[in-house]
Amino acid sequence: MTNLVLTEQQGQVLIVRINRLDRKNALTHDMYTALGDALTAAEQDSSIRCVLFTGSNDCFTAGNDLSDFAEGLPEAFEHTPVGRFLILLASATKPVVAAVNGPAVGIGTTMLLHCDFVYAGANARFQMPFVNLGLCPEGGSSLLLPTWIGRARAAELLMLGGAFSAEDADRLGLINRICDPEQTEAEALDTCNRLAAQAPAAIRATKALLNRPNKETLLDTLKAEGALFSERLQSPEAAEAFMAFREKRKPDFTHFD
Ligand code: COA
Repeated sequence: MTNLVLTEQQGQVLIVRINRLDRKNALTHDMYTALGDALTAAEQDSSIRCVLFTGSNDCFTAGNDLSDFAEGLPEAFEHTPVGRFLILLASATKPVVAAVNGPAVGIGTTMLLHCDFVYAGANARFQMPFVNLGLCPEGGSSLLLPTWIGRARAAELLMLGGAFSAEDADRLGLINRICDPEQTEAEALDTCNRLAAQAPAAIRATKALLNRPNKETLLDTLKAEGALFSERLQSPEAAEAFMAFREKRKPDFTHFD
């Protein structure tokens, strides 16, 4: 059990709050386990009709905890807490909504590709810096991102790994609406309540149909990305990037081939 992920049921909505502000909500193995457990609980409980992922008014999540990354993944990706969480998220049958303020880095952005609605505060800052860390895409992003926004833009975001704003995310069609950061969660919750009031089986059928074109490929992609990601975590390039983060400097990849 961890208190770094808080869950609370409001009406028929399960609110899942990432709550590790001193580390910018960076996600540890235990936190992924808690996120996965929340999704499992939501699937099994008929009184829950929608899940809302949120953080605080100024931070969604800085992505995977970089100290955990440095330790590598001890087992096959799909059996790790992060792999389990991603597979559960990609397979969720009930609607999932996200309220995003401030940084949404790495999996903080890729998990949004699996959400049905994303509300972003004007202060939201998205980034998928996998290559910058000597890593490769995860979370199904190598499949979903080019599908959603086109290959050229996906390559730009994944290979250059730069941060992008709520306006950029809106223009790319990655989010539903830009909000006043004080209101992001309330607007997202309002949508959750509207989703919860809809006919539940019809919502599940609609979600299944929306996900159907990518369903088989997505699970396959998650595993392929996971295997390569685990390999890259052990790479000298990643070791240099993690050391650079600890030393608060830019990584130097000049001597790698
Ligand atoms: N893992 C572990 N610790 C992290 C972290 C992460 N992913 N992200 C932030 N932290 C820690 C910082 O090291 C810092 O700790 P310190 O106070 O002991 O120095 C603390 O959280 C606050 O972060 P800081 O960088 O000072 O906040 P900021 O507002 O200036 O920047 C971010 C916020 C998210 C832009 C920046 O922290 C960042 O880029 N983090 C790394 C994100 C990342 O690469 N994630 C992995 C993606 S695959």
